[in-house]
Amino acid sequence: MATKERFEALEGLKARALEGGGAARIEAQHKKGKLTARERVDLLLDEGSFQEVGMLVTHRSSNFGLDKQKFLGDGVVTGYGTIDGRLVYVFSQDFTVLGGSLAEAHAQKICRIMDLAMQNGAPVIGLNDSGGARIQEGVVSLGGYADIFYRNVRSSGVVPQISAILGPCAGGAVYSPALTDFVLMTEGTSYMFVTGPNVVKTVTHEEVTSEELGGAMTHASKSGVAHFTAPNEIDAIAQLRRLVGYLPSNCEEDPPTLPFTPGDELRPELDTIIPENPNQPYDIREVLNAVIDPGSSMEVHAEFARNMVIGFARVAGRVVGCVANQPATLAGVLDIDASTKAARFVRFCDAFNIPLLVFVDVPGFLPGTDQEWNGIIGHGAKLLYAFSEATVPRITVITRKAYGGAYDVMNSKHIGADMNYAWPSAEIAVMGAKGAAEIIFKREIAEADDTAAKWKEKELEYQEKFANPYEAAARGFIDEVVRPSETRIKLIHALRMLENKVDKLPRKKHGNIPL
Ligand code: HXC
Repeated sequence: MATKERFEALEGLKARALEGGGAARIEAQHKKGKLTARERVDLLLDEGSFQEVGMLVTHRSSNFGLDKQKFLGDGVVTGYGTIDGRLVYVFSQDFTVLGGSLAEAHAQKICRIMDLAMQNGAPVIGLNDSGGARIQEGVVSLGGYADIFYRNVRSSGVVPQISAILGPCAGGAVYSPALTDFVLMTEGTSYMFVTGPNVVKTVTHEEVTSEELGGAMTHASKSGVAHFTAPNEIDAIAQLRRLVGYLPSNCEEDPPTLPFTPGDELRPELDTIIPENPNQPYDIREVLNAVIDPGSSMEVHAEFARNMVIGFARVAGRVVGCVANQPATLAGVLDIDASTKAARFVRFCDAFNIPLLVFVDVPGFLPGTDQEWNGIIGHGAKLLYAFSEATVPRITVITRKAYGGAYDVMNSKHIGADMNYAWPSAEIAVMGAKGAAEIIFKREIAEADDTAAKWKEKELEYQEKFANPYEAAARGFIDEVVRPSETRIKLIHALRMLENKVDKLPRKKHGNIPL
């Protein structure tokens, strides 16, 4: 074969690979409001940066006529490129090729990318759109999934792993995304479930649609499996690019810092944000938005356990992970979902050198049989564990209530926080003054002529002593009581001061977080 012909043959093969499952299937994909695997990669990565790996890989099966259905690439586009100039690895399942189904070769391509990411220390982004295990290839598909799961776990805490669910994701296939750090789902076009509506109907006699069972909103608000949702794929991919901007490439690096020009860092609006009535709610997001760099936040898990707000932001250009009780939902109480949501985020930030900024306004743990029987003790302990083992810089600001065990759990000095601030409105106590007075002055109140007046008097007495930050400050549990308007200034200084913090856990194989 002459050189020219060789080159033409190569071009021919590449052109075939780019066709995926063919024009008709691509059209069907577009009709569903979905992009193709390659269109997604092109949108995700910086223009012209994608370098494909394994374009000519095919399956080796002849089962059930598969030998007549060979597609170059075997239904997944894999490679590497850059996002804002930073290296990332990507795999993108091609639903137009055998429904994006996964079998031996398809799985090997994904594993290869994951191995490269580990060796070279860069994030892996998976764009999932697949009918699951390739039915014709049988057990090798299961092996392929397990090879991926194994790498997901080995990579956990080494390089960031992000999953976008852009189509079906069912059966055991859901466990790879679940093992990654963040899951994003598109609304109306993606779903995740272990067993679909038909099996559900047979086994439990429940009638449920795919969307209700495992659509984006279900996983974003009910199960917490999805951290982000997007109305369409363009938005989804923009979110993925944004998310990567907060993350270091691997656990040995710091997250990317942006230049910062100091200006007027006073935030007078914070001086009036706490209502005079301690039972009145306010939105902790307003506090967070005032102390972080303007417009720098990306909320995580926005729809799930809304009594806890978590997300990434920047303070003076440095990335921070924010964890905050939300008094505007359930008074900011700690319950099972809020605890697990925050605990996983704290561990992510700690694994990837992202300092933690914690805002506290918490009346305690949610009482009741539902919470107790479902294990609030164990789930609350996760958050305690996550904070206690975190070695990144940790700063706490108590804005109002810090009651009971929840005070301890929410990054208190006692569990290793580096700097603890309180606003003058802080109430650091075993419990609220009203309840406390009722318990410790029970007899006096009962014997009084005017029980209501006595109760009020005792409540005020307790309030005087404990419904403030000064008892805690006198013991050094609080490093400084600050005016709310000065909070941002304090945080900028403290984060700079803690920049080179070194803290090591005792030598161990690994701890035993109460899972
Ligand atoms: C092989 C598959 C496939 C699969 C889809 N296709 N899923 N081929 N193995 N798992 C093929 C179809 O035959 C079809 O080929 C093309 O992909 C598009 O599929 P459609 O059904 O036409 O598309 P749509 O109507 O959008 O439905 C998508 C779907 C459905 C809901 C995903 O295809 C489906 O239910 N597939 C089977 C899902 C499944 O049961 N997977 C196994 C799960 S168990 P043509 O040639 O007609 O275009 C599992 C275990 C993993 O995954 C365990 C890991 C531990």
